Amino acid sequence: MSTNPVLNAIHTRRSIRAYTDDDLRDDVVRDILDAGRWAPSGLNNQPWRFAVIRDSTTRERLAGLTHYGAIIRRSNVCVAVFYNTESGYNRDKDMMGIGACIQNMLLAAHSLGIGAVWLGQILEKKDDVNRLLEIDAGNELAAVIALGRPNESPRAERISLEDLILKSI
Ligand SMILES: Cc1cc2nc3c(=O)[nH]c(=O)nc-3n(C[C@H](O)[C@H](O)[C@H](O)COP(=O)(O)O)c2cc1C
Repeated sequence: MSTNPVLNAIHTRRSIRAYTDDDLRDDVVRDILDAGRWAPSGLNNQPWRFAVIRDSTTRERLAGLTHYGAIIRRSNVCVAVFYNTESGYNRDKDMMGIGACIQNMLLAAHSLGIGAVWLGQILEKKDDVNRLLEIDAGNELAAVIALGRPNESPRAERISLEDLILKSI
């Protein structure tokens, strides 16, 4: 394990899909969103927008829109991350920025002792998510992040670095 706090957070963050019943405070959720806000983006266009879903009835309905609904039901708060197409300039680059924004939030959550998982399968029902949350079509769902106090310590594997480097000259 690294003594560098950023490297350490990158290495020790895992997707957390089981949570305790503890409530996450609003200021902690805000700190996580704020970490997302500081992500890099092409032309600094910041094409991300957020919806915070704490309400259990709405989370239950959200859970019905993905195969991973059990995770949403167990979570304490969900953050839906949207692509604001009006601020966009290049879909590929805008989506990369949104990926950076989401990773910032995952790392921030981890550093604050909060478990998080990036949920992408729900994109198959992205229009239904907009309808449920009453978000206009100018904001396109990019992901949902489920959050809660961790109640598991999963492991994950990675491809070795040697197998990832195509060339080093
Ligand atoms: C674009 C994307 C979509 C994902 N969608 C889901 C999902 O729908 N459900 C889920 O349980 N995990 C989802 N994950 C989490 C991955 O399964 C997880 O990051 C991967 O297995 C590596 O594990 P780790 O995050 O613990 O290192 C997604 C991750 C990414 C980046």
